[in-house]
Amino acid sequence: MTIQIVILAAGKGKRMHSALPKVLHPLAGKALLAHVLEKAFALVPQTKPVVIYGHEGEKVQNTFAALNVDWVEQKEQKGTGHALQCAMHLIHADQVLVLYGDVPLISVETLQRLILETPKNSLGMVTANLGNPSGYGRVIRDSHHEIIKVVEDKDATPQQQHITEINSGIYLIPAEKLRNWLPQLVAHNAQKEYYLTDIVPLAVKEHVSIYAVQPKADFEIFGINDRLQLSALERIYQLTHAYAFMRDGVTIIDPARFDMRGNVSIDRDAVIDVNVILEGEVRIGEGTIIGPNCHIINSTLANNVVVKANSIIEGAFIESEAVIGPFARIRPHTQVGSGAHIGNFVEIKQTNIGKSSKINHLSYVGDAEIGDRVNIGAGTITCNYDGAHKHKTIIGDDVFIGSDTQLVAPVTVGNQATIGAGSTVTKDVEEKGLTLTHRLQQRIVSTWKRPLKEPTEA
Ligand code: UD1
Ligand code: CA
Repeated sequence: MTIQIVILAAGKGKRMHSALPKVLHPLAGKALLAHVLEKAFALVPQTKPVVIYGHEGEKVQNTFAALNVDWVEQKEQKGTGHALQCAMHLIHADQVLVLYGDVPLISVETLQRLILETPKNSLGMVTANLGNPSGYGRVIRDSHHEIIKVVEDKDATPQQQHITEINSGIYLIPAEKLRNWLPQLVAHNAQKEYYLTDIVPLAVKEHVSIYAVQPKADFEIFGINDRLQLSALERIYQLTHAYAFMRDGVTIIDPARFDMRGNVSIDRDAVIDVNVILEGEVRIGEGTIIGPNCHIINSTLANNVVVKANSIIEGAFIESEAVIGPFARIRPHTQVGSGAHIGNFVEIKQTNIGKSSKINHLSYVGDAEIGDRVNIGAGTITCNYDGAHKHKTIIGDDVFIGSDTQLVAPVTVGNQATIGAGSTVTKDVEEKGLTLTHRLQQRIVSTWKRPLKEPTEA
């Protein structure tokens, strides 16, 4: 049996009150539609999913230009049934799986169960029992517990409104049947729309059996209509991942303040303090501690690294036992060797730092190669940019650089060299020895008196 996925995403998203199409609003740092497309590609990798778009179609298409998707415009939003009808000319598979651009957390597992368990030539549906079913279409079953129809919230009688089994809107439909059913839909309802739900009684009439699966978690079928629902689902997503990490041996100080926006792995005994944002591809090794208010982007932190409060690490590889921060900024293409220390108000860019080297205070180090056991004093700056080009600074092993040194690149400092405080280094420095640049004489002005404040009247 072949399957094609159709994603309905033409709704206006009016309640977002946004210039951005609803399905482009991010959940966990990723557009809602991206979540759904990801699942579509995981389920049926060999067939292009069809996305039905409406408003601001170019914006949506441009966002996903790199993906292999068939786009279909639904010019007027005349309901979910009408939306699916717009895609039928592209359907060649045996079954159609209907997903929604604004239901981002449906799991691949639930959809796989829907696909595997729905008997051949039956209509499969995902339904859920919700404590608060209001707003959703209710699933109506007969005395034999067979599904016979779905009644929209707006069309439901007071008794029907008490039914807690709701329709998620996700279906697996035999394509041949669907082709017959869609033209039979009528818009005789509260919303004057062609409801896709009305295929259910048509299936019953034709003795097509109806099979329902329930998701493991209710949130899988939660849809996003406004920014409040978006933030609620965001919290559910984050809490679910925080709990999963905790079960695997990670300490998360406050799971209610955990934020991952990407693909994150965290090994056991790592500690994540509050207000940490983990973004993109992030790997955190065993025993690594991330202090409060840190932003870690596309980086790997090996085992037993300590990142102190308010540090930003992007595009970096931090080897084991290194200590970063507080208030450090590590920029892309940086590698920090094991046991190295990067302290407060230090910015590092595109630099390799050797083992056990220390840059502890107020420095900028960019486009540099730094050896092992190097000590870089406070306020040291690599002058890497001449206004047109970037140049490299190369520092050997066991070098000691005094505070407030400027290293005017390109420049090389040999192993074990010592540079005196306040030097401006413009030429290569040989191994060992002490290098100083011109220093002014220190003198004492013994006649000088400190100015005094005027005495104030009591
Ligand atoms: C629909 C179901 C309801 C179900 C609920 C689950 C129908 C008639 N009702 O209701 O039983 O409980 O979903 O969330 O299907 N869309 C289009 N074109 C349209 C209309 C909608 O593409 O003309 C898309 C929307 O972008 C959205 C999805 O279809 O992604 C659902 O539309 P919406 O209007 O939100 O349906 P509900 O009224 O919530
Ligand atoms: Ca509607």
